[in-house]
Amino acid sequence: MTTPEPTLGPADLGTLETIACELAREAGRLVVDERPAGLGVSATKSSRTDIVTIMDTRSEQLLRERLAERRPDDGVLGEEGDSTAGTSGITWVVDPIDGTVNYLYDIPQYAVSVAACVGDTTRPGAWRAVAGAVYHPVLDEMFHAREGAGAFLRTTTGVHALSVSSVSRLDEALLGTGFGYDAQKRARQGAVVARVLPEVRDIRRAGSAALDLCAVAAARLDVYYESGLNPWDLAAGELIVREAGGEVVGRGGGPASADLVVAGPAVLVAPIRALVD
Ligand code: IPD
Repeated sequence: MTTPEPTLGPADLGTLETIACELAREAGRLVVDERPAGLGVSATKSSRTDIVTIMDTRSEQLLRERLAERRPDDGVLGEEGDSTAGTSGITWVVDPIDGTVNYLYDIPQYAVSVAACVGDTTRPGAWRAVAGAVYHPVLDEMFHAREGAGAFLRTTTGVHALSVSSVSRLDEALLGTGFGYDAQKRARQGAVVARVLPEVRDIRRAGSAALDLCAVAAARLDVYYESGLNPWDLAAGELIVREAGGEVVGRGGGPASADLVVAGPAVLVAPIRALVD
């Protein structure tokens, strides 16, 4: 049974956003500062290339410990551990390293994603993030938002309000996407991307869905789509795109889910959906 949605005022949302930022920053610093010299793969998941490193595990442990201390009544759903139910109606959806393959190869494009969500996080479309943060620890960039208050990027130079791209033509749009770990799915994703490529300015596959969504919010990408995302890849980034004025939809224009995520200004989401949905 789902706990009823809690009533959250601006102060509650502000507290959740602050906690998301603090935890994402602490875990992000851990994965950069304590990255072992000979980092290897400690386990695999859905396929031989869907990997876990020791630092994914340590980062998630840290996030879970901090949440247990600061938010003992909330639930937690993380990429590397079991889901724990809470009693408050809030579930933290966390990705301890989004872009794990980049992290393994020491490509500096990975992030920690932390989101406070309401609803049933086990059912696609039945939940939403109300506050969240995505932290890029190598660049020290913190993307964050809370529902109804806009999206922001905090860097070493200050805080910048985010707004999605104003590009309206698909043939001028820089598009981000990503691919799953399963070979058969990748073959289907390859066929879809071949349809999209001639229609857009160019394509980027940067390797972290959470950062791709933040790039859409910051107009560093005009539009993004991917299939196969998990709630932890999506939760904070989806909120950040919406709060930056963008649209995030899934199959048939319904809620974003593992089937499909398309994110960007509405004027670009529609034609991308027509190509990929
Ligand atoms: C992956 C990344 C990647 C996306 C995959 C995700 P992980 O997450 O976000 O960009 O294309 O679909 O699974 O495994 O690095 O946490």
